[in-house]
Amino acid sequence: MPHDISLIATITAGFVLAFAFGFLAHRFRLPPLVGYLLAGVAIGPFTPGFVADGGLAGQLAEIGVILLMFGVGLHFSVADLMAVRRIAIPGAVGQIALATLVTLGLTKLWGWPLGAGLVLGLSLSVASTVVLLKALEGRNAVGTPNGRIAVGWLIVEDLAMVLALVTLPAVAELLGGKLPATPGHPPAESGSLLVSLGLTLVKVAAFVALVMTIGPRVLPWLLRQVARTGSRELFTLSVLAIALGVALGSAKLFGVSFALGAFFAGMVLNESELSHKAAHETLPLQDAFAVLFFVSVGMLFDPSILVREPLKVAAVLGVIILGKSLIALLIVLVLRFPLSSAFSVSGALAQIGEFSFILAGLGVSYQLLPPEGLNLVLAGAILSITLNPVVFHASERLAHWAARSGQALEQAGARQFAALQEELERARELAEQAAAAHRTFTPEELVERFPLFASLTPAQREVLILHFHPIAAEPGDRLIRVGDAADAVYFISSGEVEVAVGGRRIKLTGGDFFGEMALISGQPRSADVTAVDYTKLLALDRRDFRAFVRKHPEIREEVAHLAAQRQKMNAAEAGAEGKAASGDKDEARGE
Ligand code: CMP
Repeated sequence: MPHDISLIATITAGFVLAFAFGFLAHRFRLPPLVGYLLAGVAIGPFTPGFVADGGLAGQLAEIGVILLMFGVGLHFSVADLMAVRRIAIPGAVGQIALATLVTLGLTKLWGWPLGAGLVLGLSLSVASTVVLLKALEGRNAVGTPNGRIAVGWLIVEDLAMVLALVTLPAVAELLGGKLPATPGHPPAESGSLLVSLGLTLVKVAAFVALVMTIGPRVLPWLLRQVARTGSRELFTLSVLAIALGVALGSAKLFGVSFALGAFFAGMVLNESELSHKAAHETLPLQDAFAVLFFVSVGMLFDPSILVREPLKVAAVLGVIILGKSLIALLIVLVLRFPLSSAFSVSGALAQIGEFSFILAGLGVSYQLLPPEGLNLVLAGAILSITLNPVVFHASERLAHWAARSGQALEQAGARQFAALQEELERARELAEQAAAAHRTFTPEELVERFPLFASLTPAQREVLILHFHPIAAEPGDRLIRVGDAADAVYFISSGEVEVAVGGRRIKLTGGDFFGEMALISGQPRSADVTAVDYTKLLALDRRDFRAFVRKHPEIREEVAHLAAQRQKMNAAEAGAEGKAASGDKDEARGE
């Protein structure tokens, strides 16, 4: 073949085999992730047949990590984390510390140096976000209190790992490792360890400060500008450009990891009302590259370790499944939470995944961890992920039993658990309110709700959506007071309001709009409008409304027509009432 197709071959082999093995895994009721890892093993250098380009696969995997971390940032909820902090923070930190200690003891027996044991221990102590979320989703348990505890616990673990990834290069030499001689990173002088650690922390702090101050001003604004163009393609592109650009830029400028840069890029966009759209548009790419990430991890795995070092593999697996579970179980009970939560959480976290590979990979590149260590991590990951459905199921059974049996350990935690449930409920309500306030309609939904906008092109609808302010009203909230000056027109997306005009009450529901009469006539508000149900509305400011109908005379006409009809109806009603007031009641009814 005249030109180099190794990239195409690597991607193709990765996707085709990942698909085939993933599908098979699903058939055997295993997570598809196991299939992706096995696909990697199949095209890796340790198995016969086609061998994909490991270097290229590694780079594709980096993109996977960037998009994965960007997605984690996009969904990172501080409020959720705060609600479960009393169990998640001590739990995750305690579990990492104890699991690392246990592994250190184990590696001491194997005669490994401290640095190697530390990296292996940290790698084994963090569970897999991808596997946990998929398992919880499959059981519809993401929103349950125990599910939320597990997710919060995992976020703390992830944050701790991000910290470990950032500090590892700075302390690598201290632990007996060597810095890889990459062009951008000349090996540090020995003796300047404290300086390099300090410098790393300063750089990270500078990066975080910069991203958190400038990011929220620039990035959401940029997304809005792009959304206004109405081009989905440009929008997706802008999200990718932000994720990859911030990740690579921050790695080059500040020396922080791609993962951290991408996580912060996601977190900054998290605040934007367009974050859901951003997450939605990039999900397919994120999925595709995450698959390549797992494939490339599988490629690194040398299956012969299962035969060469069965005891070490068994020990690692023991730490992941039994050791970590027992530690989590104990911590939850010591924190005085119920036994059922203890079972449920410890089972949910009994695997390792993406962060373990990243950390172990980094450890190998700094020559802290022997390649065998990475292989053990990979074996532990593949086996624990494969066994995860069984472990998860068993822990759920135990949790059910504990909840029903009502014995002492369950009772002891009941009060704390009730308090946590209450706090979660509050966090959920707040999140719902915020989500309602941030609700952005897709252009399709907008037309469905409001036939008035059917004549608009998709781009025009996008622009309109950006000008809407979402409002949530409770029964009894007065939305418009008769006689006030007009400031906006309201579109009801769900719920119900009541217009009180004269003695009459007119109900308006989803798809209706109100507040247009005063805007069109320039007169004060003609009626009181009050929410009579939990109602979601989209408000369009006077100025935006005027600019909008100026551009779309046909819509102005339709709105004006309805306003005129309502006006006429009210006038007729007022006339009838006038007569009724003068005593001519029968005639009033006849009108
Ligand atoms: P506006 O006068 O700006 O504020 C009160 C709103 O109540 C008014 O616009 C209309 O949107 C709405 N409204 C007034 N009369 C009626 C009616 N007869 N039927 C439905 N809605 C009305």
